[in-house]
Amino acid sequence: MSPVVVLVGPPGSGKSTIAALLAERLQVPHRDTDQDVEAGAGKAISDIFVDSGEAHFRALERAAIVAALAGDGEVLSLGGGAILDAATRADLIGHTVVFLDVSLGEAAKRVGLSVARPLLLGNVRTQLRTLMEARRPLYAEVAKLTVETDGKTPDEIATEIQEQL
Ligand code: S3P
Repeated sequence: MSPVVVLVGPPGSGKSTIAALLAERLQVPHRDTDQDVEAGAGKAISDIFVDSGEAHFRALERAAIVAALAGDGEVLSLGGGAILDAATRADLIGHTVVFLDVSLGEAAKRVGLSVARPLLLGNVRTQLRTLMEARRPLYAEVAKLTVETDGKTPDEIATEIQEQL
């Protein structure tokens, strides 16, 4: 019992888009742990953070990951911070984990951090950089395959993954 493939990577790496596309091509369900957490809590992740704090979100996320990894035959996408949990990293061993890598500039663009407002968005961009640098070794640790996503269409990325599954 195992997901077909598990996608990890920072916000803006395209996990949800690529996972949905891969699932469609492979004709299997797409499961996303962020969506599972939201469905279970009955509210948006942003509201969980505001109402109950990050630690509570991480606990919900961990439970969603344990449940999802026990599933079978799905394409699974994890939230960007899932790999911060050592138990999750250990659980990912043996699974077909794909790290969707992305540059800071491209990730910032994809999550809507336009460079046109540097004063407003500079801090957020710096936070994204810090987060990506700190997490890179953790994504690499769990990944069987790393795919560079900059300058590629979702179709190209999905094909690259399929060719190496
Ligand atoms: C998070 C990324 C989000 C979501 C939550 C925390 C993170 O998922 O799980 O807001 O810590 O990087 P995406 O990577 O899909 O944006």
